[in-house]
Parts: sequence; structure tokens; C-alpha cells
Amino acid sequence: MRIGIIGAGRIGSTLGRQLAGIGHEVAIANSRGPETLGDLVADIGGSARAVTPREAAEFGQVVIETIPYGRYRELPAEQLRGKVVVDTANYHPERDGHDPELDDDSTTSSEKIRAFTGANLVKAFNAIYWENLRDQGRPKGEPGRLAIPVSGTDSEAKAVVSGLIRDIGFDPVDAGDLGRGGRKHQPGTNVYAVPLTAEELSGALHV
Ligand SMILES: NC(=O)c1ccc[n+]([C@@H]2O[C@H](COP(=O)([O-])OP(=O)(O)OC[C@H]3O[C@@H](n4cnc5c(N)ncnc54)[C@H](OP(=O)(O)O)[C@@H]3O)[C@@H](O)[C@H]2O)c1
Repeated sequence: MRIGIIGAGRIGSTLGRQLAGIGHEVAIANSRGPETLGDLVADIGGSARAVTPREAAEFGQVVIETIPYGRYRELPAEQLRGKVVVDTANYHPERDGHDPELDDDSTTSSEKIRAFTGANLVKAFNAIYWENLRDQGRPKGEPGRLAIPVSGTDSEAKAVVSGLIRDIGFDPVDAGDLGRGGRKHQPGTNVYAVPLTAEELSGALHV
């Protein structure tokens, strides 16, 4: 599959390595330009290429946006419209600045990113600490395999993203839609950044 990744930090580079490692075509972008990503794409290897955010959005059959929430308005909305987009973002006001609509919980970060981009958004990978994502993938059925909550309204899009999660060594658990579901795995919840198996995560999410 062609996968575009917007954001080449801890989560973006980790997912880039893992997805390229199992044979996906990866195009990855940051904010400073493709010329700053030479070492990363050389390290990722395979067919990985460094691109602009707009090119990553155009390239991906699935696009992963993994930039700080406070910068979501810089995403290439036109190119993301209608695409399956994985949203890994979390709202951290001390990093992102205050967003009154999130402070009063009238909406969620994922719903705002969906509204801005018009993408078919799936919230995933937001609740796993990046070092666990990097190091804890295990074959299916192995005891202790960690789980990752997935939220969104489109079951087909969630199935695609869930397949990618399984393929890199984790169990997806459907948390529901982006609103009620997404709220269950935001920062401050009982599952956020807590390493849990699928059984434990399902119990904690009450799904
Ligand atoms: N770290 C974790 O354990 C973890 C776990 C789950 C979810 N998350 C969430 O996932 C997101 C990424 O986290 P991270 O820890 O990977 O962040 P990070 O290491 O700080 O990396 C952020 C990346 O986003 C890029 N970026 C910023 N603005 C951009 C823009 N407008 N267009 C394209 N790229 C842009 C940066 O590029 P430049 O360096 O060129 O600016 C950098 O490559 C955040 O929302 C975070 O809250 C983090």
C-alpha cells in the first residue's frame, strides 16, 4: 500500500520504519522540507522517499498525520479531503496553546481535524507511548501483545487501519466514533499511554 506520513518525529519515523519494513511504500514529510529528511529515509530504506506534506497527502492511499495538534491548520486540507487519514494527535495545551473548544470539551481534537480537512479520519496510535510502539510489537497470539484503540465513523476505514496495526504487531480495539469513542483514549483517560492487552483495553474502554 502507498502510505503518506506527515510528521517525521518520534511517531512518524517509527511508523515509517515499521510500515516500510513490512513492504509498504512510504513517503514522509516534515515542516522543514524533504532536504532535511535524507538521513531518515536512508535509514528507513526500501522505497521510502522524502516529500513535502502536500506530496505525502497526494501519495498516500492511507495518510498518517502525526504533527503537534497546535499546527493542524498547516495540514494540506485540499489533498486530504475524502482520504483515509490516521490522526495520532493529542491536545497538550502547554505545547499547543489553549483551544477553548477543547478546554470546555465541546468537541475533540480529532473532530476538529476532520472538520478542517474533510478527511475520512481514524484516530489511532495516539494512546501508545512511542517507545512502546517502537519496541513492543509482537506476533499475533503471543502473550502480552499490546493493544491500540481505534476510533472513527467509517467501519471500512477503521478496518484498513486496524489491519496495519495488526501487521506491525499490535491488536486494534474499536473504541467507537471520533466523539464519544475518541474521548475514551485522549490524554487524561485511564488507557492513555498505559500498556494494555486487547482484553485489558476492551475492559477499560467498556467496549
Ligand atoms: N511521543 C509520543 O509518545 C506520542 C504518542 C502518541 C501520540 N503522539 C502525538 O502524535 C503527534 C506527533 O508526536 P511526536 O512525538 O512524533 O512529535 P515530534 O517528535 O515532536 O515530531 C513532530 C513532527 O511533526 C513535524 N511537523 C510539525 N508541523 C508540521 C507541519 N505543519 N507539516 C509537516 N510536518 C510538521 C515536525 O517537523 P519539523 O521538525 O520539521 O518541524 C516533526 O517531524 C503529536 O500530536 C503527539 O501529541 C505522541
